[in-house]
Amino acid sequence: MKSKAVVLVRVILLCALAAINSEEWPGFSPLVTKESRRTLTLTESGGITAVDVHVGCRGSYHLQFISMEPGSLFLPVLLHTDMLFYVHTGRGTVTYIGEDETDEIDVVRGDVYRLQQGTAFYVRSHPDPTREKLRVHAIFDKTDIEDPLGFSVSAYSNLSDMVRGFDEKVLQSGFGVSEETIRGLKWVPTPPSIVPTTRGNETEKPNWKEGIVEAVLGVGGPTDVMNKKTTKTKTYNFFEAKPDVANRNGWSTAVTREDLRALEGSNLAPFMVNLSRGSMMGPHWNPRATEIAVVIQGQGMVQMVCPSDPSGKVDDDIACRNTKFKVEEGDAFVVPRFHPMTQVSYNNDTFVFVGFSSTAGNNHPQFLAGRSSVLQALDRDVVAASFNAPNASTIEGLLASQGESIILACTSCAEELERTMEEDIERRKREEEEAKKREAAATKREEEEVK
Ligand SMILES: *[C@@H]1O[C@H](CO)[C@@H](O)[C@H](O)[C@H]1NC(C)=O
Ligand SMILES: *[C@@H]1O[C@H](CO)[C@@H](O)[C@H](O)[C@H]1NC(C)=O
Ligand SMILES: *[C@@H]1O[C@H](CO)[C@@H](O)[C@H](O)[C@H]1NC(C)=O
Ligand SMILES: *[C@@H]1O[C@H](CO)[C@@H](O)[C@H](O)[C@H]1NC(C)=O
Ligand SMILES: *[C@@H]1O[C@H](CO)[C@@H](O)[C@H](O)[C@H]1NC(C)=O
Repeated sequence: MKSKAVVLVRVILLCALAAINSEEWPGFSPLVTKESRRTLTLTESGGITAVDVHVGCRGSYHLQFISMEPGSLFLPVLLHTDMLFYVHTGRGTVTYIGEDETDEIDVVRGDVYRLQQGTAFYVRSHPDPTREKLRVHAIFDKTDIEDPLGFSVSAYSNLSDMVRGFDEKVLQSGFGVSEETIRGLKWVPTPPSIVPTTRGNETEKPNWKEGIVEAVLGVGGPTDVMNKKTTKTKTYNFFEAKPDVANRNGWSTAVTREDLRALEGSNLAPFMVNLSRGSMMGPHWNPRATEIAVVIQGQGMVQMVCPSDPSGKVDDDIACRNTKFKVEEGDAFVVPRFHPMTQVSYNNDTFVFVGFSSTAGNNHPQFLAGRSSVLQALDRDVVAASFNAPNASTIEGLLASQGESIILACTSCAEELERTMEEDIERRKREEEEAKKREAAATKREEEEVK
C-alpha cells in the first residue's frame, strides 16, 4: 500500500508530464458531495460553505454556497478572480464597483451573472422577513490566481480588512472622513462576513459600516440600495429563457455571450439541465470544455467513461477509471473534457443541475446516441468495424431506432445503474478483503520462517 504523499508526488510529476503533452490530470474525483463542503462562516444572518475542485493540471475551481437570511448584508469584498454566480433561491441586490462601471442588479431565483476580477461587491438580501433565504452558488476560476508553488490565494478579500490595515491618519486623509468614523472602524471587533442590515433601526445607526462603504466604494452605501430604481444591468434568467433543447424528456439551456453580455471574456459559461423522470442526457462528450455541475433539485446517476489511452499505460493509483455515481441535491460533479458522460434521472424524481463549463473556445457537445449522434455522420461500415460488429446492418439498427436527440427517454436506467454500481462496490470490497487476507497469510509465513 502506498501513502497518500507518495501518490501526490507522483500526481505532481505526471502533471508536469501531462502539461507537456497537454493532457488532463490523470487522477481526480468526479464526485464532490455536499458533506465534503467546509464551513467558512456561520452566523444567525447566514453562512458560507465551500469546496475546491481540481480538474486536470490546468484547472482549479472554488465553489462557494452563500446563504443569507432576509434582511442581511454580505459585506464588501474585492474579487481576486472572476466570479460566476447562480441564484438558487430568494431575491436581493448585488452592488458592484468595477474598474469602469458601478452598478447594482436585482437578482432573483434562476439568475446568473458574472463579476470580473478586481471588482468590489456586496450583496443585500430582500428585507422582507417572510421571504425565502437568498442562496447563491458561486464559482471562482482559481487557475489565474493559483501560486505556482501551490499556495492557494483566496478568491476574494474583505474590504474592511484591507482598509483596517492602514494607520488611522492615512485612512482619515485618504477617505476624507472624520476621526470618529475611523476610530469606530478600526477598534470595533471584526464583523463576520454576513451581518444583519441595520436599516430601520435608528438606535444602532452610527457604526463602522456606515461611512466606510461609502468612502471605500464611492457610492451611497448599502442602506439606500433598495430604494434606488436604477437597474440597468440585466442578468440572465434560466426560467424566463427559451431552452436550447426541450422535449417531453426534459430541457437544457447553455448561456452564451450573446445571451449575457457580462460573459464577454469569461472562461466559464453557465448551463442548466432539467431531466424529467426516467430520462437521460444522451451519452456525449465536450471537445473543449470541462463541466462542473451542482445538483439543485432531485437526484440522479452520472456515468463517466475514460477516453482510452493509446499508449495503453495503466497506473493503478491515479489512473482515470470508468465510473458511475449517485448525486443528490447539493452535490457537485465534474466531468473533464473528452470524457464521454451521461446523466440519468430516476423513475420517481426529476434531476436538475446547474453547471459551469470552462470554454477555451466554442464548445459543441458531441453526442454518441440519438438522432444527432456523431456516429450518424460516419460511414456505417466504419462504425461497424470500430465496434467489431458483424456487419453494417447491425449498426444501422443501433442508430435508426432513436427518434429523439440529446435528451432521451430512459425508463429505470438510473435504478439499473445504481444496482450495478452497488454490485461493483461489493465486488471491489470482496477483492480487497481477499488481497488483505493473502497479504496477512504471507506475512505470517515469513515470520514463521524467520523463527
Ligand atoms: C473576512 O472577515 C471574516 C471576519 O473577520 C474572516 O473570518 C474571514 O476570514 C475574512 N475573509 C477573508 C477572505 O479575508
Ligand atoms: C434596534 O437595535 C437595538 C439595539 O441593538 C435593539 O435592542 C432593537 O431590538 C432593534 N430594533 C429593531 C426594530 O430591530
Ligand atoms: C424541472 O421540470 C419539472 C417537470 O417539468 C418541474 O416540475 C420542475 O419544477 C423543474 N425544476 C426546475 C428547477 O426548473
Ligand atoms: C426514488 O427511487 C430511488 C431508487 O429506486 C430511491 O433511492 C429514492 O429515494 C427515491 N426517491 C424518492 C423521492 O422517492
Ligand atoms: C448481420 O449480422 C446479424 C447478426 O449476426 C445477422 O443476423 C444478419 O443476418 C446479418 N446481415 C447481413 C446482411 O449479413
